[in-house]
Amino acid sequence: MDKQGKLNRLYTDLTEHFDALYAPDHKIFVFGDGSPASAIVLIGEAPGEQETLLGKPFVGKAGKNLDEFLDITGLHRPDLFITNVVKFRPVKISDKGRASNRPPTREEISLFRPYLLEELSIIAPKIIVTLGNVPLHAMTNDTTPISSVHGQPLLCAPGTVFPLYHPASIIYNRALKETYLDDLQKLKEYISINKITSP
Ligand code: URA
Repeated sequence: MDKQGKLNRLYTDLTEHFDALYAPDHKIFVFGDGSPASAIVLIGEAPGEQETLLGKPFVGKAGKNLDEFLDITGLHRPDLFITNVVKFRPVKISDKGRASNRPPTREEISLFRPYLLEELSIIAPKIIVTLGNVPLHAMTNDTTPISSVHGQPLLCAPGTVFPLYHPASIIYNRALKETYLDDLQKLKEYISINKITSP
């Protein structure tokens, strides 16, 4: 079976598992997007509202924000496979019944982690770029703070990880912007020195 076939099978298993686990809720799952032959995988935290509406990770405002940063590295969507740790939108409901995003819980992360590891082992990328603490911790399987490892390659069990801050954190913390731009340059250099290209 080719990589896409294996991914489709994995996503079917995931859907059956979580549909049974969260019944009677019907979660909307957002799976990885891009060519499974990609040499570079980007991992975010979890989909937001736009992602569940369009069925792809990092679309809408978060996607535009990510694309602007990617431009700096010379990478573009067709070069990448993009996915999230948690494959449904974690929401909290206000007193007025309005849904808004919340960070995924530790339990949700650990339930999805085996599926993420399998996704990575099918794709077998040359580098895994994590965006923020949630995907970083899913790779390291510990709580190494991103502030101590961002912008440098890290050897982890699933492969070589290049930790970046989450692009949304730059919006909330402008002081991080210089650091983030610096890290993107380092990623660009790493990709070029190691001749990492997607077919
Ligand atoms: N959209 C995603 O798909 N993932 C994130 O982490 C943020 C926005």
